Amino acid sequence: MAEEEQYQKVANRKDLKEVGLLKIEPNRKSIISAMVIGNVYAVDSICSHKGGPLAEGSLGGYNLTCHWHYAVFDIRNATSMLRMESPLWCFGKWRGGLQ
Ligand code: FES
Repeated sequence: MAEEEQYQKVANRKDLKEVGLLKIEPNRKSIISAMVIGNVYAVDSICSHKGGPLAEGSLGGYNLTCHWHYAVFDIRNATSMLRMESPLWCFGKWRGGLQ
């Protein structure tokens, strides 16, 4: 399989704002994407605590906060900052933003 066939375009560069959250749904999988300091990160959009919608949360630096019960995840690796919740699914990081 050619390398470009492994990727699916899910958004345009202009759709993603610095320190903003963007919900995308490639192959019916709900993911949120965020750009911090020019790097793009993608994690599961469902909070691992009790299923809160992380797209409605907030991003401060690398900290993604779920607004249901205020769990905080590191958007870079999807781990819980307090180690109380399971890590989120992490879909990767792209240096330099989207092409
Ligand atoms: S559902 Fe996200 S912190 Fe509880």
